[in-house]
Amino acid sequence: MANLFEYLLNKIFKPKFFDEKKIFKIVDIQNKKLDLLNALIGKRIKLTSEPHSFFHKRVSIRNFSGKALNKEYFSEIIFNSLGIRKDKSPKKEYSLEPRTFPSAGGLNLIESAIYVHNVSGIEKGIYLYNPYTEELILLKSKVLLEDLLPYCQNINLNQANFVIFFISNIQPGMIKYGLRSYRYVLLEAGHAAQNILLNLPKYGLGGVCLGAFNDKKLRKELNILKDYQNEYVVVCGGIK
Ligand SMILES: Cc1cc2nc3c(=O)[nH]c(=O)nc-3n(C[C@H](O)[C@H](O)[C@H](O)COP(=O)(O)O)c2cc1C
Repeated sequence: MANLFEYLLNKIFKPKFFDEKKIFKIVDIQNKKLDLLNALIGKRIKLTSEPHSFFHKRVSIRNFSGKALNKEYFSEIIFNSLGIRKDKSPKKEYSLEPRTFPSAGGLNLIESAIYVHNVSGIEKGIYLYNPYTEELILLKSKVLLEDLLPYCQNINLNQANFVIFFISNIQPGMIKYGLRSYRYVLLEAGHAAQNILLNLPKYGLGGVCLGAFNDKKLRKELNILKDYQNEYVVVCGGIK
């Protein structure tokens, strides 16, 4: 029954290929959006802005240098992006320690499984990051990245340094916010991923975010905790 439901959902909402007609339709909708913006009536205020070079150079990186990353830099990236925030602001009795990324109600619905591929001093494998003890806990050592992410032929996975799998347990969110919590889970994953992307360039690294993965297969292959599911992936590696 669950499979039939998933099949129907995929059929309705997930067209596998773009044909020309569909591309025309997308272009048409995008153009209408621009027309709508241009046609808006109202006082117009031109913003004066100097482009900040950092953000205007941001681009997804899919081909990596393959150079090893040292453990100290890797630790800094993970700790600064995903760790427990060091300025201890008061937390609600049902919240967890605040993290370096925002979380609806401080519930911290997102955790991270990290595939370490080429970090000197850390053996290859999938780890769970425990921000409370600042430790990686090995979940599985023999993993083939191409098996985990089969829809990513456009990405040079073999040359990546590490891959972060953002996983969520939505249950505390459901209790507090009901179905709206799914929106919050995805937003929180986006904040966490953005932290990673913003921390990478300092170390000569870049990355690409991924939404293309098989939920069921990934949950099984990652050997992640019960009640968790994968929401978002960031592949990170050296800029060539
Ligand atoms: C939610 C989301 C999912 C994405 N999924 C994929 C993906 O599965 N594969 C991929 O190659 N890029 C993926 N990307 C990256 C986009 O393709 C990329 O951001 C877009 O082409 C714009 O390029 P830029 O980031 O270099 O500006 C994703 C980006 C977002 C925000």
